[in-house]
Amino acid sequence: MTRALRLGLIGVSSIARRRTVPAIRTVGSLAITACAARDLERAKEFAGKLDADAMTYDEILASPDIDAVYVSLPNGLHHEWARRALLAGKHVFCEKPLTTKAAHTDELIALAAERGLTLHENFMFVHHPQHARVRELVDGGRLGELRGFAASFGIPPLPPEDVRYRADLGGGALVDVGVYPLRSARLLLGDGLTVAGATLTIDTGRGVDVGGHVLLVSRSGVSASLEFGFRHSYRSRYRLWGSSAALSLDRAFTPPATRQPVLRIEEQDHVEEISLPPADQFAIAASRFADAALGTGDPALTAELNASTADTAHLVEAVLSKAIRIDESGGRL
Ligand SMILES: NC(=O)c1ccc[n+]([C@@H]2O[C@H](COP(=O)([O-])OP(=O)(O)OC[C@H]3O[C@@H](n4cnc5c(N)ncnc54)[C@H](OP(=O)(O)O)[C@@H]3O)[C@@H](O)[C@H]2O)c1
Repeated sequence: MTRALRLGLIGVSSIARRRTVPAIRTVGSLAITACAARDLERAKEFAGKLDADAMTYDEILASPDIDAVYVSLPNGLHHEWARRALLAGKHVFCEKPLTTKAAHTDELIALAAERGLTLHENFMFVHHPQHARVRELVDGGRLGELRGFAASFGIPPLPPEDVRYRADLGGGALVDVGVYPLRSARLLLGDGLTVAGATLTIDTGRGVDVGGHVLLVSRSGVSASLEFGFRHSYRSRYRLWGSSAALSLDRAFTPPATRQPVLRIEEQDHVEEISLPPADQFAIAASRFADAALGTGDPALTAELNASTADTAHLVEAVLSKAIRIDESGGRL
């Protein structure tokens, strides 16, 4: 039997504590052996709960007893720490977005390949089997010819001190929540997407975008309308609209592990609901990372994940260059 991949946590973040670490602990091929926080006392407190060693970020990179790192720092610090980890010979499981610049994303993917290391961006939703079922239905013609796609991911305002409002730490809604609808368009409409237009709402005081709307067009001419933001009621869904039916999926990006997803298919004269088994997308994402790093996974999956990560980063950049910017009171900037 292959031994478990020894994982060090870089940052004791909210997402690590609430979601990723509990899921990782259900994955037999991963063992959290070290944990680092800027404040060693905080690292010790969390490490104690995991029976792991408390260290600094640098000590994790220097340790010969750690195979891989999980980076869950503010978005603007991912590039630096993922790069340093790859250079130190560690496999990297990094929170989304992998970086905040397309050139940095391309650089990390190339560096991992050059060093024979696994690099996965932790975009868990793509691992939930519900999307594979949606694709089967679309490919099987259940909706007729595909005409349009719409996706939205929005959350209510965050506490004022949240790192997502910090321009210096790579904050902003596009890179934090906008990437979900962008990535879902990439997942369901394929590569070769073009940004036809975009708006971004800017919090001028903080210098970050807090919401936006993007229009994409796919290679085959299907348009996609994407909305996202930090000043919205909660919404996490997408809809595919075909010539004979429309399919919608709620909690598309954030289904709890116990939730039975429901695919709702609407036709002119009736509605069909398909219930699917629940799945823990956090655990699936983590176990696929471990399999890839241990050499027991499907290399084609890592290649596809990284191609999608890179395409999404380039779409973000295209949105930033094309967007019409609006201030929070609706004025054009
Ligand atoms: N995959 C998902 O579903 C999902 C969901 C939410 C968030 N995320 C991603 O996870 C990452 C962390 O988000 P979060 O909400 O968990 O953030 P958070 O609670 O604010 O955690 C960020 C961590 O970064 C570390 N850090 C290092 N330098 C920092 C600095 N200068 N200022 C503030 N923190 C600093 C801190 O770690 P120490 O003090 O412990 O060293 C802190 O615990 C982000 O990239 C976010 O996009 C992913």
